[in-house]
Amino acid sequence: MLNHPLDPSALADFDLPADTSAEALRLRAELEAGLRARDACISPKFLYDALGSKLFEAICEVPEYYPTRTEAAIFERHGGEIARAVGTGTTLIDLGAGNCAKAARLFPLLHPAQYVPVDISADFLQDAVERLQQRFRHIEMNALGMDFSGGDWQLPDVVRSERRLFFYPGSSIGNFTPEDALAFLRRVRAQCGADGGILIGIDLAKEHAVLDAAYDDALGVTAAFNLNVLRHANRLLGADFDIRAWRHRGFYNERMRRVEMHLEARSSQQVSWQGGSRRFEAGECIHTENSYKYRPSDAVGLLEQAGFAAAGVWQDARGWFAVIHARAIPPGAMH
Ligand code: AVI
Repeated sequence: MLNHPLDPSALADFDLPADTSAEALRLRAELEAGLRARDACISPKFLYDALGSKLFEAICEVPEYYPTRTEAAIFERHGGEIARAVGTGTTLIDLGAGNCAKAARLFPLLHPAQYVPVDISADFLQDAVERLQQRFRHIEMNALGMDFSGGDWQLPDVVRSERRLFFYPGSSIGNFTPEDALAFLRRVRAQCGADGGILIGIDLAKEHAVLDAAYDDALGVTAAFNLNVLRHANRLLGADFDIRAWRHRGFYNERMRRVEMHLEARSSQQVSWQGGSRRFEAGECIHTENSYKYRPSDAVGLLEQAGFAAAGVWQDARGWFAVIHARAIPPGAMH
């Protein structure tokens, strides 16, 4: 967690190497360790600086990237039924809220008592929440600039404890390995309370070609999104990545049932940063993201393992995407 959410510095951006707060140091150490690893990697959370968040919004507009609009169509078509299932007056905790648009579309149906958008891209989030609060003045809103991708996050006391509904749309769960997804869902379950639940969007396994195109669109928006992580690394670490010396790779790995994104060096090069450097050979890759695709039964099974019971599953007609509502199973009722 960056800081206490009521402290304005909680929404500071950790872009500058000069930032020596504990959180900034931790993020830089994580980024550097990934660059030094034999198989270099950068955690996907670094894709979301201010520009990265905007590029992700643009991805959602390209024709090949179906998940966002497919999920939106499910909410459009089944919104009433979903709202009846999850109930109104909840404490709606929007994990990875981004521009808050998905949750905002549900406000007229869900009428949450409190809205708690959580996102690592704190500045971007704060702007979005300020605009949203103007439109929905009666809903209490508390934005949290927080990294919940690790194992030890905890919601602060400002978040009401009654009827917590975690909202995790967009198949962000797919960006965890299945093991980390389970750990993450268990963490959510632990903070649900007795009467809580989760409303989650999960992208489903499908034809190779559809997935390849979705993560390597003709316009190159996904490529820009991926390459932008190097700009972010340049700012965070004081590194000297030459963006033009790298190319985007995005493809479905059927065996692992995941889409992978990599950045491939176009030529041999030395990259330096404050306190270190590394040589990359031509063709060498930095792994930047996995996006796991689930079968509906596996998704339900994962939720059950985490201590939830699936109460409703909604899909589009092509069976490309699922929205699942799952209730927290009381600890005594778990086996
Ligand atoms: C945010 N996340 C669910 C997206 C995905 O599909 O895995 C991120 C993304 N990466 C490339 N395109 C979109």
